Amino acid sequence: MLWSKTLETGITKIDEQHKELFKRIDALLDAGNKDRLKETIEFLDSYIVEHFTCEQKMHIDSKYPKATAHKAYHDNYVTTFRKMKGQFMKEGHTLTTSQAVNKNVIDWLKEHIMVHDKEFAAYCKNNGK
Ligand SMILES: [Fe+2]
Repeated sequence: MLWSKTLETGITKIDEQHKELFKRIDALLDAGNKDRLKETIEFLDSYIVEHFTCEQKMHIDSKYPKATAHKAYHDNYVTTFRKMKGQFMKEGHTLTTSQAVNKNVIDWLKEHIMVHDKEFAAYCKNNGK
């Protein structure tokens, strides 16, 4: 499992969605056949957008000062993910596509959670949100 406790922000709703994301990315790397792979990528594609929309709503509702910058990180990630999706759909499971998932999907997500989502969690905690 790619998820670890150090990734917890302390905001239950966000943590639950992050866990689900990592679970699905695990499944993506494990997908044995093309149909399963396609299904998992399609799920991730919509789940990522759904999750980011939910986070962004929380940012706005709590008047988070870095809401705009945070949304820009999310938008960039969706673009990167869709590029990777195109590559996966074309080439299937190869060493190159797996490496792309590790670098562009997993590493980015971990870094984003550790830095930016935790920063939002700290803001909520410090401002009684
Ligand atoms: Fe985020």
